[in-house]
Amino acid sequence: MPSRKPLIAGNWKMHKTGTEAALAARQLTALTADAGDDVEVMIAPTFTALSQVKAELAGSTIELGAQNLHWEEKGAFTGEIAADMLIDAGCTYVIIGHSERRQFFGETDQTVNKRTRAAVNAGLRPVLCIGESEVERDAGQTFSVLDKQLQNGLESFVLQDLQRLVIAYEPVWAIGTGKTATSEQAQQVHAHLRKQLASLWDDEFAQQLRILYGGSVKPSNVAELMAMPDVDGALVGGASLDPETFSQLVHYKK
Ligand code: PGA
Repeated sequence: MPSRKPLIAGNWKMHKTGTEAALAARQLTALTADAGDDVEVMIAPTFTALSQVKAELAGSTIELGAQNLHWEEKGAFTGEIAADMLIDAGCTYVIIGHSERRQFFGETDQTVNKRTRAAVNAGLRPVLCIGESEVERDAGQTFSVLDKQLQNGLESFVLQDLQRLVIAYEPVWAIGTGKTATSEQAQQVHAHLRKQLASLWDDEFAQQLRILYGGSVKPSNVAELMAMPDVDGALVGGASLDPETFSQLVHYKK
């Protein structure tokens, strides 16, 4: 049996000032202190909150993530953030290719590929997001859309590059809408993705890679989703903002 440690990750998006984020991180640290070793927790606050949140996480096992990074190491790229800067702020993870970036900020599979490369080169753990829209799902294109995002996003990567990779399946129609994929829909897609990853690289790699589900995960549906054999965690937006609620997700087994 592959050992894929479940990862419950909170994407705080453009919410919380540094002060608010630090307070939430402090509360979350206390609320999840008893969560044990068999689940990993990550939070991704906005850039300006990273250092303050990191200070609150001292002594806790909660990992820090960023919501994006630029592909260049440094230079004249006003408004961008480089991998080294994230590492210096205490990040171990970085979310890449979130559908909001694809939808509102011109992110493409090609820029996702470059960002993932930068994350890998710097030793960060990329959480690569892919997902189909409602129109694509209704047209029966779910698998072909996801396959393309996966293949293009990871084009030219060799196995050795992918050891720290996490994939997040986030159906666009389920993000922030209250509509969740059923656990069966999530399982069906995750199993498909694992098969694709095995055929693109190899089976051993595919079996150890974590595939998270994201899209309206909440306390009432987390256990059912996590019970699926190919769902290895959750990437949570709205329900990660309140420490009490997010802690319930971390304790999904209870
Ligand atoms: P949501 O967001 O949980 O608010 O649907 C998920 C995500 O965007 O990662």
